[in-house]
Amino acid sequence: MSDVLADSREDLIAAARRAMDSAYAPYSGFHVGAALLFDDGAIVTGANFENASYGLSLCAETVAASIASHAGRRGGLLAVAVLGGMGGAIDAAISPCGRCRQILNELAALGGTDPLVICVGAQETVEMRLSVLLPNAFGPANLA
Ligand code: THU
Repeated sequence: MSDVLADSREDLIAAARRAMDSAYAPYSGFHVGAALLFDDGAIVTGANFENASYGLSLCAETVAASIASHAGRRGGLLAVAVLGGMGGAIDAAISPCGRCRQILNELAALGGTDPLVICVGAQETVEMRLSVLLPNAFGPANLA
């Protein structure tokens, strides 16, 4: 039986790197790319999209999740790769912000998965399940 995550892991990280190239981050200068892996092997990417009204800026993970939703995806989320740095230079591994954790949780909860979050840095890659980043999450089940 094929292991979608094992087979696609390097492609997923490469996709996040490519996605970072389309970051629009003129205010912070911090470029972020995210890539979502689904159980059918599809990869959906996003980059941060800042706004002159700073607080309205969208994170890379949120953009990717929105694109996935618009493409009709409701669950099946196996893994998320995220990376970023000033001017696109990757240094420390970064993990999804609080709002993005909640947004990713929606997509994950719809399909009953607990995606692996792969935080890619220059020297080290840190991995953890979304449920570790967002324990006791509020989700769709609370409103059912
Ligand atoms: N950012 C992301 O895209 N994802 C995160 O998880 C953390 C932060 C973006 C938002 C903003 O455009 C820039 O990084 C600096 O905060």
